[in-house]
Amino acid sequence: MRRGYAAVLCVLAVMGLEAAALGECEITQLLQDKLQYEMRLQYMKHYFPLDYTVQVQYEEVLRPSNITRLRNGTVSEAALRYLWFHVSSQALLRIRQVLPEKHPSWKYTQELCRLFDALGREYGAYRQTDVDVVVADLVKQVHSAGAERRRKAVRPKALLDNCLKVMRMLFGRPCECPGSGRGAPRAQGPAQR
Ligand SMILES: *[C@@H]1O[C@H](CO)[C@@H](O)[C@H](O)[C@H]1NC(C)=O
Ligand SMILES: *[C@@H]1O[C@H](CO)[C@@H](O)[C@H](O)[C@H]1NC(C)=O
Repeated sequence: MRRGYAAVLCVLAVMGLEAAALGECEITQLLQDKLQYEMRLQYMKHYFPLDYTVQVQYEEVLRPSNITRLRNGTVSEAALRYLWFHVSSQALLRIRQVLPEKHPSWKYTQELCRLFDALGREYGAYRQTDVDVVVADLVKQVHSAGAERRRKAVRPKALLDNCLKVMRMLFGRPCECPGSGRGAPRAQGPAQR
């Protein structure tokens, strides 16, 4: 909580960033705390049977390589964060679908869900209209869970590993504090590679 608050002050100080980043930075900081390695390991691996997998659609897997590819196109950073939000919420839903309420990981996933719900309110307010077509299509596919669509088996921990890795890629720089030793944040977007 304290760190989240500090992040808000930092972002206010920078101001080159969209005001929208305020709530996002606080919430993603809390998410990052909840997605620490030890927690992912315990709740998403140790509490599951060996090699357990869940079935997801291909579009529900969002890795750093996807982001690199999309960034190479004309997709905006805001749209990429929007995509990450939808894919991650859906992944979380997939995990929850296989958990009975008494499962030791249930409460953990519920806490994650609350944070995603909070992010959803942020996005609902100002993001619906200005998303790139590519991303809008992907989000539509993520939510069109037709039974005939191709599925793949993914470990629950892998879903959350990707969620965290991509989150760091997308929120690291815009949410960074000046003078934190990691370099000054830029106003928008990564350098093209
Ligand atoms: C990410 O890339 C994989 C192929 O590497 C693809 O199957 C998947 O649909 C992509 N995900 C998104 C959300 O674009
Ligand atoms: C990025 O796009 C350029 C041309 O648009 C292409 O030559 C290059 O291979 C792409 N790089 C990646 C990592 O996709």
